Amino acid sequence: MSDQTKEIKRIGVLTSGGDAPGMNAAVRAVVRDAVSQGIECIGIRRGWSGLISSDFVRLDSSSVSHIINRGGTILYTARSKEFMDEAGREKAIGTCKLLGLDGIVAIGGDGTFRGALALSRQIAEQGHKLDVIGIPATIDNDIGCSYYSIGFDTACNTAIECIDKLRDTMQSHERCSVVEVMGRHAGYLALYVGTAVGATAVLIPERPVDFERDVVEKIRRARLAGTTHYMVVVAEGAGSAFEIADRIHEEIGIDPRVTVPGHIQRGGSPSARDRETASRMGYMAVQTLLAHKGNRIIAVQGGRLTDLDMEEALTMTKTFDMSLYTVLEALTNGGARLV
Ligand code: F6P
Repeated sequence: MSDQTKEIKRIGVLTSGGDAPGMNAAVRAVVRDAVSQGIECIGIRRGWSGLISSDFVRLDSSSVSHIINRGGTILYTARSKEFMDEAGREKAIGTCKLLGLDGIVAIGGDGTFRGALALSRQIAEQGHKLDVIGIPATIDNDIGCSYYSIGFDTACNTAIECIDKLRDTMQSHERCSVVEVMGRHAGYLALYVGTAVGATAVLIPERPVDFERDVVEKIRRARLAGTTHYMVVVAEGAGSAFEIADRIHEEIGIDPRVTVPGHIQRGGSPSARDRETASRMGYMAVQTLLAHKGNRIIAVQGGRLTDLDMEEALTMTKTFDMSLYTVLEALTNGGARLV
């Protein structure tokens, strides 16, 4: 563990929470840049649980070869309940001391960063210092301090590919599809995907649903415009696709088919955007540690990368940009047809 002036000699890197395409690219960037700076890198497996149980692997430049293109995370991931308690974190502190870690780069979402901050504070109370750096990675894109998080673009593309395929069969059978996309409590994924597939209707948690206005009337308008197949995209945080399909059946009499791509949206080879963002963020995380700037989150703000104080960043909220919803409405209002 480091003090303000101590040289950074050894760092840990971990992935935590739901996996996201591009996490491997971020791990690679952290390891490669650290090694090039003469810093030893230890991969902590299974997120914070691995720090508790001393589950680690030494990483060198070649251990991260050929992973930039791979989805998932070579370090495995987990959501650790034990780490949320002081006693669990005390065990993790034991591992940090045992391994002589000067810093940790934690790749994940808000929960991952809250864990990192709690760990760093607990160590500080004991008169030591461990610099933690967060890299945003979640397909939900719901991290308050960062406009973008690694994995979102790939997940959008995956969901779009699924829906494009659905469209073929919905068109042939002149049916209505209700597709539930992930996103936890946020509607970013649903709105981007819905806009990109030209959906008849998109339901997101950020906009209270008026079923008549947002679903029934949109399908009716589409029908009046000559369309005979309809695509309704629903964010998991806005409701269940099965319930929505039942309601459509009750109110309009058509018989929708439900598709839930589920965890497929979390897999797959990362897109160019996710590889590039992960590479930049991983590099910046190491540079931030080298500058002895501890407890920071690497974030996208105003179109560029920056590092933010972790405590402050965790209080930030992102205003959901409804302008895309306005665009979607404008583009479906005229004919409400699936493009
Ligand atoms: O946070 C990523 C995410 O995929 C959410 O979109 C989803 O609600 C959740 O994780 C699913 O979690 P689990 O993998 O535990 O089923």
